[in-house]
Amino acid sequence: MLKNKITRRDFLRILGYGSTAFASQPLLKACQPLFAGPTPPPFVGDPDIEIRLIARPAYQQILPGAPTQVWRYEGQLIKGPSDCLLSLAGSYLGPMLNLVRGTKLRVHFENRLPELSIVHWHGLHVPDHADGHPRFAVGEGETYVYDFTVMDRAGTYWYHPHPHGHTGPQVYRGLAGLFLVHDEEEASLNLPSGGHDLPLVIQDRNFSEDNQFEYNNTSMEALMFGQLGDDILINGQPDFRLEVEPGAYRLRMLNGSNARIYKLAWDDGTPFSVIGTDGGLLESPVRRDYLTLAPAQRVDLWVDFGAWRPGSEKKLVSLPSAAPASTGEITILTAFIKDSEPQTSSLAENLTVHTAFKASQAANAHAPRKFDLQMQPGMRWVINGRQFEMDSVARDEEVHLGEMEIWEFRNQAGGGMGMGRMMRGMSQPHPMHVHGLQFKIIDRQIDPSMQEPYQTLKDGFVDEGWHDTVLVMPGETVKILMKFEDYRGLYLYHCHNLEHEDMGMMRNYQIM
Ligand code: C2O
Ligand code: CU
Ligand code: CU
Repeated sequence: MLKNKITRRDFLRILGYGSTAFASQPLLKACQPLFAGPTPPPFVGDPDIEIRLIARPAYQQILPGAPTQVWRYEGQLIKGPSDCLLSLAGSYLGPMLNLVRGTKLRVHFENRLPELSIVHWHGLHVPDHADGHPRFAVGEGETYVYDFTVMDRAGTYWYHPHPHGHTGPQVYRGLAGLFLVHDEEEASLNLPSGGHDLPLVIQDRNFSEDNQFEYNNTSMEALMFGQLGDDILINGQPDFRLEVEPGAYRLRMLNGSNARIYKLAWDDGTPFSVIGTDGGLLESPVRRDYLTLAPAQRVDLWVDFGAWRPGSEKKLVSLPSAAPASTGEITILTAFIKDSEPQTSSLAENLTVHTAFKASQAANAHAPRKFDLQMQPGMRWVINGRQFEMDSVARDEEVHLGEMEIWEFRNQAGGGMGMGRMMRGMSQPHPMHVHGLQFKIIDRQIDPSMQEPYQTLKDGFVDEGWHDTVLVMPGETVKILMKFEDYRGLYLYHCHNLEHEDMGMMRNYQIM
């Protein structure tokens, strides 16, 4: 039997009905956004849930011996039920927000770091002033207030800093957290819940002799590959052991790494049943022998540990691939299946129905917007030859509210330096992310000269469903389809290899 099924009463409780509202805290200094924008406020009146999120330096025991200096988010609930803000035990990761679709949320972000920062809600469809654009970054001692209604499908989203040029190091120091959205449709599916619904945030880090995070974004390797670590942490912990009962679980995986691409597999080759992607549940589960998970991507898995022998151990590994620093097999975690009576469970074939998006509906169906992902001489990553500019957009980065568009990301062999096959090594994979919406992946084409590395990862793509980040491999051209809805304003699109992003592989787009 599944535990802790979410009932309608729980929903109302999570929504804040019937709970004791705490007295409001003294007002904090609110920084007005620089651009008020033409967007109306996301909600009027009082929020259902109000929290304070503080970013500050702290110490965390990660390895035996000296504690590690980290930067972390700490949460305080101002208004709402206690289970809408959950902390991950023994982790530097920020509190997990656990909300119901439709919640009116207010977040007071308080920056107690010695540099600029701002919080971005990755994957969420929010008004531009709530999106955490770097132009809204606040300094030490300042607060930024977010007001928005959670309109997103049930799924696994996340939040992290987004100050320009410093996102990589800030995330690496520990600033990140999960943002779960629930809805009634999801609840009706009887998916594993409560203690059988586990978030797993995968990150890689390098530690110094005295247990401190080592970050270097200036080396040649970092410029090419981004910051890669030799040690894998799950939910902020090394050598992660997952103790499970022999039954069904929902494992929500987030690749929270700055740059590492994983090729996830069970060590005995058991295939995965994938029930969700970045933007929530799939229409029906899909099976994969391995999963390619690029930075910022999420994958929601249904795993039946009851199918394995009670008392046994299974390793989740990352297999060798053409991804940088992936020549050997890496252990991600070890699952230990308790020696108890196996529970039988099954997974529904129909999970949900997605809004139909047809490429023919796109305003630019016959001439997709093209984005060339390139490295410029001087080792600078650019999009269409341009680097990030804080508050301007080019004419070809203006889109219209209410329209559907096809965007085409082209990652040419040779890194776009015009040297073709000779310079293959100059091409790197780019996990491309678009803010403010979820898109469909409609086409992939690979340059024949780049087939070989491509083959090491391509069967692990889950292109079904809704996505906010898509991996564009060297030599690949990927088309996505999306619709600009509800909000006008200035949003971002960028490579989610955080070192590429910080180097300027990011641009604004404007919804007019
Ligand atoms: Cu998770 Cu602009 O990013
Ligand atoms: Cu984002
Ligand atoms: Cu990149």
